Amino acid sequence: MERFREILRRENRKYNLISRISFNETFEFLWTLSSQILVALEPFSSLVDIGSGAGFPGLAIKILSPEKRLLLVEPKAKRALFLKRTILELGLKEINVFKGDFSLFHKKFCNGEFDYLSSMGIKKKESFIRENCGYIRKGFCFVTGEKETSRLLLLKKIKKYNSNVVKVHGKDKLFLVIIRKDGKNNSNS
Ligand SMILES: C[S@@+](CC[C@H](N)C(=O)[O-])C[C@H]1O[C@@H](n2cnc3c(N)ncnc32)[C@H](O)[C@@H]1O
Repeated sequence: MERFREILRRENRKYNLISRISFNETFEFLWTLSSQILVALEPFSSLVDIGSGAGFPGLAIKILSPEKRLLLVEPKAKRALFLKRTILELGLKEINVFKGDFSLFHKKFCNGEFDYLSSMGIKKKESFIRENCGYIRKGFCFVTGEKETSRLLLLKKIKKYNSNVVKVHGKDKLFLVIIRKDGKNNSNS
């Protein structure tokens, strides 16, 4: 974690990835949130993170749980380059970066490849569920605000799955929405 923090601090000047003024505070928050996601999804062995940006939650989850297989999807060239270089510098294996947006990724990987799909900080998350054509085995994990949480839970497609809403540690109006494909009914908590 400390090596990742130092790489991010150093490269942040070049790539403008997270707040520079409150770097430590932002890093701590994103790191804790990534750990919360990891714990909430266990057990699983693979995850695709859409819009990884500075590496949260995907890269952080890989560092915390190195045996998992990760794919980070990021369309911005500079951010994708940052992720690739950081993976190399940290010597991580079984983690790849797909430079492109979700719709491109979606066309390439429709073959039952990952246990979970995660995403934080991207709008229109319902498209991930709508367009998912079977390559996500267990379900989805989104970090959302209040309004988006309510909107997501009303979606027809989500209603047939088992969804669970958990408050993000330290934030009143931020939630983890976990949607499991193995459940039939909606049991929000
Ligand atoms: C607000 S940032 C959040 C980054 C990271 N998840 C974090 O919390 O530090 C959103 C990221 O999603 C990426 N993004 C936006 N639209 C996307 C799409 N359609 N598919 C994949 N990534 C996307 C952006 O390039 C950006 O890096």
